[in-house]
Amino acid sequence: MELTRLRGFQDLLGPSAETFTFIEERARQCAERHGFREIRIPLIERLELYDRSTGETTDIVQKQMYKIERPPESGATGEMVLRPEGTPGVVRAYIEAGLDRSDPEQRFFYSGPMLRYERPQKGRYRQFYQFGVEVFARPDPACDAELLVMIDEFRRALGIRLTVQINSIGDPVCRPAFRDAVLKFGLAHREEICADCKQRLERNPLRLLDCKIDAALVESAPKSVDYLCAECSAHFGRVKDLSAAAGVEFVENPRLVRGLDYYTRTTFEIISADVGAQSTVIAGGRYDGLVETLGGAAVPGIGFAMGIERLALALEMAGRAPKFALDAAVIAMGEPATRKAMTVALAMRQRGLRVEMLSPERKLKALLGRAAKIGARFAVIIGETELQKGVVVLRDLRASSQTELSEAQLAETVLAARTE
Ligand code: HAM
Repeated sequence: MELTRLRGFQDLLGPSAETFTFIEERARQCAERHGFREIRIPLIERLELYDRSTGETTDIVQKQMYKIERPPESGATGEMVLRPEGTPGVVRAYIEAGLDRSDPEQRFFYSGPMLRYERPQKGRYRQFYQFGVEVFARPDPACDAELLVMIDEFRRALGIRLTVQINSIGDPVCRPAFRDAVLKFGLAHREEICADCKQRLERNPLRLLDCKIDAALVESAPKSVDYLCAECSAHFGRVKDLSAAAGVEFVENPRLVRGLDYYTRTTFEIISADVGAQSTVIAGGRYDGLVETLGGAAVPGIGFAMGIERLALALEMAGRAPKFALDAAVIAMGEPATRKAMTVALAMRQRGLRVEMLSPERKLKALLGRAAKIGARFAVIIGETELQKGVVVLRDLRASSQTELSEAQLAETVLAARTE
């Protein structure tokens, strides 16, 4: 057996991990600015949770769940799985904490890995990271619009271009008629649709609408907006009005039905033109019946999740990925200078500078080479002479020039170079 990582799983080293953290931090700041509080939920849940929420007939539940075995001595029963998405776990936690009855209006954000057994390709992995938000007890369209505004703010914070697509898929009052119309359409074209869609027709006909293979045929399929009841139609109209008034640019996509079962009314997907076939970087929608389906009170919900891998790709393509910048490498020559160098480095770090101490046991030339290799902007050199004179040498590694400075001037000079 070779000790390599599993297919569809990624190691994130250095720059990739830093880009992830950068995106997660921006997302967290944006969520906090909108009043969201953090929630942390388990990686493992009961299979039944996803059966009853994500949906028994969805690809996720049918084909993509990682099942977990308990140790033989456990004695517990019921199947357990690794979470394929965050929404069901958050809803379960919300109900389990009794919030649906005691204090229903809540807004949470979460972040972490999800697992789905999918066919790996660029932008699609078996373990991937999501940052998600969920809002409870806000049935009003202003909440849907606020989430779109928040996504727009986040997009600006990253400095990338994204397209917002929205749709409404109705509610339990009007969706059955739409579902029937799509089923009828599918049956009428049974000979033309792909093998997967033939099966989908029986289990979940709406999935036909986002089939990539049958895209041309789907152009003439029924549209959900044509089947909305008066309430759903008014809700969708308000979402669009309020979003537009807040400066959010969006397009309507009548094919946007989403691959999870719990959605009602507003659904949306945010697309990047720069990341290849897996172009949906953020997706979400309203799920007004889910809390009740999972045993809670009749509390509406809405949320979205972003795929960090796909956003990282978009950021890299736009040349906006963060670059790790080390301000200085500290080089000490000899034992007394090493003592001094430790306090010099400490004082610089206290000013917020990124400073790495290099090994005092190598030659100056090798250490300067090392400082350049790790991308330090400056080398701070302290030897016997500097100790005696009470100064340090600051070597600008870009300009290959150096000056003598007092310790007091050091941090200021390096900080000033940050804004150059
Ligand atoms: P989802 O559309 O299944 O929705 O996933 C949301 C996002 O996660 C996708 O748009 C994509 O960026 C990312 N993603 C999904 N699968 C993969 C994968 N295999 N590899 C890389 N990235 C992936 C949900 O998960 C819902 N829980 C969203 C939501 C929250 N709806 C309401 N609240």
